[in-house]
Amino acid sequence: MISCGTDILETQRMKNAVQKWDQAFLKRIFTEKEIEYSMGKRFYFEHLAARFAAKEAVFKAFGEGFSSANFKDIEIVNDKNGRPSVLLKGAMQELSNNQKVDSIAISMSHTRNYAQAMAIITRKSEEN
Ligand SMILES: CC(C)(COP(=O)(O)OP(=O)(O)OC[C@H]1O[C@@H](n2cnc3c(N)ncnc32)[C@H](O)[C@@H]1OP(=O)(O)O)[C@@H](O)C(=O)NCCC(=O)NCCS
Repeated sequence: MISCGTDILETQRMKNAVQKWDQAFLKRIFTEKEIEYSMGKRFYFEHLAARFAAKEAVFKAFGEGFSSANFKDIEIVNDKNGRPSVLLKGAMQELSNNQKVDSIAISMSHTRNYAQAMAIITRKSEEN
């Protein structure tokens, strides 16, 4: 059983939000690791925007749980080759257990203007 979710946003909107709300905004949406990773990059808002899109893509792939969703319950981490993966916490981890999620794949791209992400979730079939 497979489901997917996707999201795209204008990177400028992320830049504006960070400049307007600063730490309060960052800390509400992103984990410490995500902030550290992105703020270490020259075009930090592109990386933040891609992570925001990735979180939305994961929400969509789950297909429920948006209202009480905490963005920080979905964390995007990169391995030593730069490859991103998804870590779930709190309510999202619970939702994942309830839906018998087997794996979540994520892929992100970003340019000066847009950031986009796609998430693919596989679930154990009912027989397992
Ligand atoms: C990894 C690579 C594909 C990224 O592509 P890009 O066009 O430079 O940049 P994109 O905006 O599309 O993607 C960037 C995202 O790719 C993801 N990424 C990075 N390394 C990755 C890897 N090894 N596997 C999967 N995804 C990866 C990351 O999520 C990254 O965003 P982040 O740093 O904010 O997490 C590219 O840098 C690369 O190494 N390509 C190898 C082939 C190559 O050198 N081609 C050159 C053709 S001119």
